[in-house]
Amino acid sequence: MGETTTIDEPAPETEAFAGRLLDAATDTVTVFGVYLGERLGLYDALVEAGRCTSAELAARTGTDERYVREWLEAQTVSGVLGVDDEAAAATERRYSVPEAHVEVLTDRDSLYYLAPLGRLLAGAVAPLPDVVEAYRTGAGVPYAAYGSDLHEGQAAMNRPSFLRLLGEEWLPSIPDIDARLRADPPARIADVGCGHGWSSIGIARSYPNVRVDGYDLDEASVEAARRNAEAYGVADRVGFEVRDASDPTLEGTYDSRGDAAARSYNLVTAFECIHDMADPVGALRTMRRLLTDGGAALVMDERVGDAFTAEGSDVERFLYGASILHCLPVGRADEPSAETGTIMRTDTFRSYAEEAGFGSVEVLPIENYFWRFYRLEP
Ligand SMILES: C[S@@+](CC[C@H](N)C(=O)[O-])C[C@H]1O[C@@H](n2cnc3c(N)ncnc32)[C@H](O)[C@@H]1O
Repeated sequence: MGETTTIDEPAPETEAFAGRLLDAATDTVTVFGVYLGERLGLYDALVEAGRCTSAELAARTGTDERYVREWLEAQTVSGVLGVDDEAAAATERRYSVPEAHVEVLTDRDSLYYLAPLGRLLAGAVAPLPDVVEAYRTGAGVPYAAYGSDLHEGQAAMNRPSFLRLLGEEWLPSIPDIDARLRADPPARIADVGCGHGWSSIGIARSYPNVRVDGYDLDEASVEAARRNAEAYGVADRVGFEVRDASDPTLEGTYDSRGDAAARSYNLVTAFECIHDMADPVGALRTMRRLLTDGGAALVMDERVGDAFTAEGSDVERFLYGASILHCLPVGRADEPSAETGTIMRTDTFRSYAEEAGFGSVEVLPIENYFWRFYRLEP
């Protein structure tokens, strides 16, 4: 008789957890499949064509048929794409983007456009070896190390909200700010940490009088912002500069004579960037200093819970992922660092704002799944 090996049945909780982790890995590779589809224009071409074989899609997109065939099958088993006849020969099958998925995968202006999630996550893991080393040494990882996928993905994700909601719903819901942006003399706005400039452009499109100065530390983002302002026909009123928001010498670039002038902005904004900054108090201090009498600052940052709870919300689970891979390492790239991370709770933000000299910090009643809005006044 040979020896028999008995394998202990795992506890149900062990099995459930193992299953959960496998599901998470499966979903992760689906998102990287979305990355390929978005980067290579595969979704756009499929939607344009209606239905495609692998060879037709490869020809339309200048890609390799064998890779595209594998991608089509992978995306279909993941429930992203549909197939006409699964039993047909592999090279004969025709695939399509289901009607309900078209907006999410290809409509760049839709609030449901999520294809850039692939780019964002690919960017977030681009410098993983550096991040692993940073965990050992306590050093940071510079924003530029995350490459173009990160800032392009970030910009594409927030773009629809900035173009469709910021100047059309969010700002109009703050009556006195809305009124000032419509009034004369033309209001001046500084937008710190502006990235690719979509928030600045969104405000300028909704308020045809205003002038906006966008400031960001990242050169590639500022170049993209300038191109975007040109493309949207607002470059005469919207300018961008590479500047550190926490630089105590940062001053306004326009005044009525076209000269630099401090304390000259009616509104200073910071969208999803304060938590990324090594010196958030310094940046908030700049924002306060740049305000005219009667001006206000508006900060949009992540809508996280008021306190850590073991069972975080879906938003918080996602944001913790962003924090451990990107936001915390980036925020530690400059020393000294506040070491905030993505999960900047209201109390933390309030303490930064108060330390920066703001006398009033109000959480605005703007409902949004991802964002919380703060109005600050000196
Ligand atoms: C998460 S991105 C947000 C970009 C943009 N506001 C948006 O919502 O899409 C954070 C931005 O903050 C910028 N940033 C970080 N620290 C900064 C600083 N000290 N001064 C200016 N910009 C900074 C980064 O370069 C990056 O563009």
